[in-house]
Amino acid sequence: MCGIVGYIGNQTAKTVLLEGLRRLEYRGYDSAGMAVYDRDGFNVSKKSGRVANLAMEVGKRELEGSLGISHTRWATHGGVSDSNAHPHVSSDGKIVLVHNGVIENFGDMKRFLLTKGYTFESETDTEALSNLIAYHYEKEGRPTNGFSRFFMAVRKALRHVEGTYGIAALCVDCPEEMIGARKGSPLILGVGQDEFLLASDVSAIITHTSNVVYLNDDEIVSVTRDKFQISTSSELGVDAIIDTVNWKIEDSEKGDYPHFMLKEIFEQPAAIENAMRGRFSDDGSTANFGGWNLSPHELRQIDRILFTSCGTAWHACLVAEHLIERFARIPVEVEYASEFRYRNAPLDKNTLVFVITQSGETIDTLGALREAKRKGYRTLAISNVVGSTIAREADGGIYQHAGPEIGVASTKAFTSQLVIAAMVALYVGRLRDMSFASGVKMVEALKELPDKIGRVLKQNDHIKDIARRYAHYADFLFLGRQSMFPIALEGSLKLKEISYIHAEGYPAAEMKHGPIALISEDCPSVFFASNDEVFHKVISNIQEVKARKGKVILVHAESCDVPEGLVDDAIIFPDGHEAIIPILATVPVQLLSYHIAVERGCDVDKPRNLAKSVTVE
Ligand code: AGP
Ligand code: GLU
Repeated sequence: MCGIVGYIGNQTAKTVLLEGLRRLEYRGYDSAGMAVYDRDGFNVSKKSGRVANLAMEVGKRELEGSLGISHTRWATHGGVSDSNAHPHVSSDGKIVLVHNGVIENFGDMKRFLLTKGYTFESETDTEALSNLIAYHYEKEGRPTNGFSRFFMAVRKALRHVEGTYGIAALCVDCPEEMIGARKGSPLILGVGQDEFLLASDVSAIITHTSNVVYLNDDEIVSVTRDKFQISTSSELGVDAIIDTVNWKIEDSEKGDYPHFMLKEIFEQPAAIENAMRGRFSDDGSTANFGGWNLSPHELRQIDRILFTSCGTAWHACLVAEHLIERFARIPVEVEYASEFRYRNAPLDKNTLVFVITQSGETIDTLGALREAKRKGYRTLAISNVVGSTIAREADGGIYQHAGPEIGVASTKAFTSQLVIAAMVALYVGRLRDMSFASGVKMVEALKELPDKIGRVLKQNDHIKDIARRYAHYADFLFLGRQSMFPIALEGSLKLKEISYIHAEGYPAAEMKHGPIALISEDCPSVFFASNDEVFHKVISNIQEVKARKGKVILVHAESCDVPEGLVDDAIIFPDGHEAIIPILATVPVQLLSYHIAVERGCDVDKPRNLAKSVTVE
């Protein structure tokens, strides 16, 4: 949540910051602001609303400075207003700060600072930190071992913070220095030619450089025009590793598509190819993973797997549960990361803990991973963002290689997670009791997937037409059984997050135990079916809905023998192996939700109240 961009170099900071904020806007979009060091002080602009509002505001100002910090906010403390927008200037005018995260003890800080004469203009937690830095700067700060007084004051203030932060700060007395620091919220340093950028993620810096330092928790970086130096709370000056990122600029642009979400839905065949590339054995009977860091022997000792995640990634965990139990015959449990991290769940010593996360930064998923590690469990992560905190902290992992996902509603990241889950089930299954022939069949099925998704995508116009006819409903049910139940949950989440329609996902048979009370001609149901052992049960559940005048859209496999005239609308996907059916069934509901949201005039890529990467609890 929230995007930070900082710049020091030889270009006009205002232009670089606006461009970076536009690229990070998917992380938070309540308000935006920037501070540029211009002539002999800060020039601060902030505006509620989108980055475009800020651009209009700063467009009126002549700002020549080449040092600045900026922010696009997802409010946690204090409403959406110009005064709560970042940056926050300390009341003595010395320090300016942008912040991502939550300062949990800001109340105590504020009380202390009020007694010292500092004043407050906003309702944010962040302003307490800008004043606290100013306090340490004034009262105690002194240069030490080549580090400036400003740097020492930031370092000192951060020692008092309980909570999470990614920050960028400037000091009015230091026209040549920018400071960044992180704990719990992401921050990276882009190392360019005669310029440096601080940013919440890579998309803000790739037009400048592909050289990146991923800051670790508890690190503080001082950046001047010709160098940067990293320290921690206990050590001044530590080594830094410069990594190279291999994103292309086009990956994070919409191209000819009206929305990132639609682009990303259509990128799924390629994203799935990338998830599989180079990961099948030469004999075509199993999968291989480079960064897994677990030997076949160690894997055979595993008695149980716990999957833990949030949101859409949690739905991917539910599909993984189904696939791993079915093909690898290992008991799997799935927990919300936000629950697991505080629950002190009893885990067997031979449990493997797996997290799934597109961003690799979700704070609850990170908290769950750290808790599992503290308890001594082996941890693995499936993640899309190379170098993300979770990818670095897990004992081993599998990258998705789906390319940047910018639309707030996750689409290609989800289906690529399902492909990897199927490959994990295959790999572990083959180490246990899956036959060679079954392995070969599964590999062949996975390889057919991109083509089959392409066939679903060809129905875009048909799905758009259905969407037009259903866009006015206020409530929906999504119903499926077995591996289609998580897809029902995902379908309902997709619809509610981008169209603001109330939707619920249920196992189709559970409907009778309560939700059936909602069925009427005003509440349509989306059912999922494949040609499996529960197909006829699903048909009976559809009959139950039809008997109560409910409209039904059925998303089903080609060979399903659907009774003539039973459903109101149908979307058909190609038949396939059990491992790929959930993926094929997902794509139609992504398109359905997308077109319904567009029809209702919603801002598909930036739905209200949401942010792409949830770095607060
Ligand atoms: C997906 O459409 C959501 N916006 C959200 O549920 C998301 O999946 C969740 O926040 C987890 O994110 P992660 O995969 O980056 O950890
Ligand atoms: N807690 C801060 C605020 O509400 C920062 C939120 C963010 O990460 O955008 O302003």
